[in-house]
Amino acid sequence: MKKTRIALLSVLLLSIVTVVAAESDNPHFLPNLFPFRNDSGILKTFNATGTLDLTGPFFQSLGTNGRTCASCHQPGDAWSISAKSVADRFEKTSGLDPIFRTNDGSNCDHSIDTTTVEGRRQAYSLLTTRGLIRVALPVPAGAEFDVVSVSNPYACAETTTISTYRRPLPSANLRFLSTLMWDGRESSTQTGTTPIAFASNPTDLLSDLAHQSVDATLGHAQATTPPTPQQQKQIVAFEMALSTAQAIDFGAGALDAQGATGGPVSLSNQPFYVGINDPLGLNPFKTPFSPVVFTLFPASWANGHSANEHHRDRASILRGQTLFNSKPINITGVGGLNDATGLPLIKGTCGTCHDTPNVGNHSVSAPLNIGIADVTNPLDVSYLPVITLRSKADPSQIITTTDPGRALITGKWADIGKFKGPILRGLPARAPYFHNGIAANLKEVIEFYNARFDMGFTEKEKADLVAFLSAL
Ligand code: HEC
Ligand code: HEC
Repeated sequence: MKKTRIALLSVLLLSIVTVVAAESDNPHFLPNLFPFRNDSGILKTFNATGTLDLTGPFFQSLGTNGRTCASCHQPGDAWSISAKSVADRFEKTSGLDPIFRTNDGSNCDHSIDTTTVEGRRQAYSLLTTRGLIRVALPVPAGAEFDVVSVSNPYACAETTTISTYRRPLPSANLRFLSTLMWDGRESSTQTGTTPIAFASNPTDLLSDLAHQSVDATLGHAQATTPPTPQQQKQIVAFEMALSTAQAIDFGAGALDAQGATGGPVSLSNQPFYVGINDPLGLNPFKTPFSPVVFTLFPASWANGHSANEHHRDRASILRGQTLFNSKPINITGVGGLNDATGLPLIKGTCGTCHDTPNVGNHSVSAPLNIGIADVTNPLDVSYLPVITLRSKADPSQIITTTDPGRALITGKWADIGKFKGPILRGLPARAPYFHNGIAANLKEVIEFYNARFDMGFTEKEKADLVAFLSAL
């Protein structure tokens, strides 16, 4: 039954895609809410200004290597890239699409051979298997640590500039951001950008996004001149108008039917201000924190009258939502949380860190170290570099990590391994997960938390949480 439905839907979608493609070989627009298929359903983007114009500066080559913002921020991949879609692009273009450039698309920018397809296959393996871009960051002057050594499997072992490997974050749903970039480097005084705060929002965010568009053009696109102020404005206005989310689940049907408020249109109406649901008392109106972060799927949505063919899948998504909102987590050893509060044990939930209502990022800037960059890790990190750092204040202290994270921006010893908690919408369109792509799928995300925080999930609970995250 389910298989037939999926097949029917695919045929339907294929025909929609064909119709649009037939309009022109080089389409100039996408209809609003255009459907994009992924493994668990259909993702759509709601554009507040209507039809999606594919001709603006976001889609133009503004640099010297042929890349556009869309090279790494694809509408069908929730405005990020999935490793799978990059692998498809590699096969279609024999590794010549502009995303495959050696400045930051290859595992390293030297000691590679990109003259043959086989050479390119090797050179871009992290991009095609994990969707990773090489982000090279200088060790800040006056850092509280020395870089003792870098062991990098791809020869990028420089110690004054550190090669890190990061997933593109979605360039949509941006009005909810409290931090720009995984390490916050586009919203930090250290880089001359503006921290995002209640009193200055959204002016801070808009200027940070403009700054980010300049850095992305000069960096990723290797431009010799920055985009004009007009182009920066257009890029920011374009990104800010986009709300993206899973809209239809193959098992559960429309995610915004019968009282449910999933999908991108509801998301575009979701209220937000910086601090809206902070658990540490940082709400500007002193509104108390609620762990019930996601309220997209009401119990009535899964009511078991036999007319509802989606009942079983809806019930699973609903149980997953309840687990997200209530399953106890003993939070220990999290840098930026346990140390910052002086509480070695915080009895929390997923929402303690993913607190923005129906969005899931942190509603105030809160770089955290939950161990994703750790060398000793429940998930496979063998494809990542190992960076050894030594404290200048206390040289007996050594940390090995696969990515120093925010410490490469602030220079602070305490910031090693800290990253932002990202927005949790559009997840099924953009595997793998975490800043370094160590979770190949959402099941592995849950396995990480199960091991890291000893959560004791049953197999059924894991499946329910995956069903829920796949419906975001
Ligand atoms: C070569 C791939 C690539 C290209 C091209 C690219 N980006 Fe990105 N983008 C990334 C990566 C990787 C990150 C995350 C890096 C990090 O946080 O360290 C990112 C992050 C972002 C973010 C941050 C979102 C958040 O949640 O903090 C925005 C916004 C963004 N990019 C917009 C753009 C724009 C606008 C352009 C074109 C001017 C562009 N990007 C071009 C790879 C790319
Ligand atoms: C102690 C804080 C904390 C708790 C508790 C927590 N998370 Fe996270 N979460 C984070 C941070 C920080 C990241 C980003 C880490 C990184 O990539 O380095 C993250 C990333 C994620 C991602 C990956 C998103 C992406 O775009 O790659 C998912 C999915 C996720 N969390 C789901 C959950 C679920 C489900 C739970 C409850 C079982 C949970 N989290 C509990 C802090 C937390």
